[in-house]
Amino acid sequence: MWITILLLGKKGKGYGCVKKIGIKGTGAYLPERIIPNSFFEKTLDTSNEWIISRTGIEQRRMVLPGQSLSEIATPACKQALQMAGLSASDLDLIIVGTSTPDMLTPSTGCLLQHRLGAKKAVAFDVSAACPGFIYGLSIAQKFMQDGSHQHALIVGGEILSHRIDYEDRATCVLFGDGVGAVVLGPSKGRGEGEILSVDIQSNGNLWKLLNIPGGGSLHPPSREMVEAGLHHIKMQGNEVFKHAVRYMSDAVRKILENSGFISRQIDWFIPHQANIRIMEAVAKQVEIPLEKVIKTVHKYGNTSAATIPTALDESVRSGPIKKGDLVLVASFGAGFTWGAALFRM
Ligand code: UT7
Repeated sequence: MWITILLLGKKGKGYGCVKKIGIKGTGAYLPERIIPNSFFEKTLDTSNEWIISRTGIEQRRMVLPGQSLSEIATPACKQALQMAGLSASDLDLIIVGTSTPDMLTPSTGCLLQHRLGAKKAVAFDVSAACPGFIYGLSIAQKFMQDGSHQHALIVGGEILSHRIDYEDRATCVLFGDGVGAVVLGPSKGRGEGEILSVDIQSNGNLWKLLNIPGGGSLHPPSREMVEAGLHHIKMQGNEVFKHAVRYMSDAVRKILENSGFISRQIDWFIPHQANIRIMEAVAKQVEIPLEKVIKTVHKYGNTSAATIPTALDESVRSGPIKKGDLVLVASFGAGFTWGAALFRM
């Protein structure tokens, strides 16, 4: 205990108290392999029309056999570091939001630290499902504000194609693989970007509506566990839908209230990309016009913790998000967990 306090004190002194934190760089990696809706039509009682009309999804990306999350995260993190003008050795903190880590232990954060050569960073994972990236932002903000950690890498990534039951038409058409990353650093405010507010919430009472039950201590790996399909995503879709709209709308209202902004001031809204109908319903509830809603769900499906950082990276690199824009993000997922963040680019 005594040693820990001394170490923290030394690091804190090193960087001094940081008041403002900004997004310095973004990066993403989407696997090259494209899986169109017609892939599922071959084996299941489903159709391209049903999938598009009920979800907005036209295709999703899938990794090659043998690829791991830390492998596909590496190019995304390198891109984010390059945009930030930093090297891996500058990182003090690595947080990976994911439900599909490389292994149960060590964390994908540590494996990524190894791949990047981020020798001085402390690295760990956050298990918060789809809002894992927003949870990462919230945790990093607290680590950085006391001055103990100056540069942080926040990753949201998933390889969900390994967790899909390809015989369950109600879930297998929804998910995809991908990873996004941001680098955070100290900021002087306007012109340099600033994270204005982050809020995260959870409600474990509703865990049964969405989960991957197998492979942990409750249902340890075994032939019986796999035969029972417990390693696959289980979801009561229409129940989850209702909660997703309610909780994401609440998260947006709360973040606007906390930060003193109104919805009219938002330049761009990136909701979790699970279903276009959920995204449109949330935008309507919080009075953000659809022209301001960033959409990637048609191209990548639901990539859980990766939907927001991949959409952010794409919008920063190819438009429409510009320096100085006010960006709102919100997400919802298994737990239930939800959250929102407001930042100026
Ligand atoms: O990222 C974490 C959070 N996850 C989400 O936010 C996902 C939330 N849920 C959803 O996006 C939607 O509920 C789904 C897309 C999963 C389902 O859409 P829905 O409009 O809620 O459909 P439903 O579950 O009420 O099912 C309606 C019908 C059912 O048939 P019956 O019982 O009416 O005969 C389903 O069996 O649609 C059927 N169905 C399908 N039909 C063709 C379900 N999946 C399919 C399919 N193709 N792929």
